[in-house]
Amino acid sequence: MSADFSLIRSSFAAVQPYGSQVTEYFYDHLFAHHPSVRPLFAAHLDEQRDRLWAALGALVANLENTDTLIGMLQNLGRRHAGYGALAEHYPAVGASLIAALRHFAGDAWTPAVEESWTAVYGVISSTMVAAGESAPN
Ligand code: HEM
Repeated sequence: MSADFSLIRSSFAAVQPYGSQVTEYFYDHLFAHHPSVRPLFAAHLDEQRDRLWAALGALVANLENTDTLIGMLQNLGRRHAGYGALAEHYPAVGASLIAALRHFAGDAWTPAVEESWTAVYGVISSTMVAAGESAPN
């Protein structure tokens, strides 16, 4: 994958000062472009926003710890199968995540940063989907 982990870390750091605005933007973007996924989520997203953000931070912090990273993604993927997340939802979520990061990263956002996030999200989603599909329901 053509992912430069230092670009992932620096762009993620660049959006930190915006805090929950980033996840608000993400959910607004996701539900505006894919309203059909809204019913999967609870009515109030406050807690959910913090969890998503904490999970992303943990993933970014463990990019080089492959075993830890894969284990986290498999657990997350199994839980997501229970939330009704389907393989076809993952590209939509990835597009909204990248849109939110791009919006807040400012000058820190470059084509190489976008390519790195696209590659990393590809690994995140394929690992989560595979774990979700093999999860007992
Ligand atoms: C980068 C990929 C993703 C990450 C890091 C992520 C992270 C999280 C986290 C941390 C939670 C809190 C509960 C838990 O830890 O199990 C959660 C819940 C949830 N996620 Fe995700 N998620 C991702 C992708 C998706 C996708 C593709 C969908 C599909 C629509 C989705 C739908 C949901 C739903 C429905 C919940 C439960 C919300 C609720 O209880 O209202 N997520 N997610």
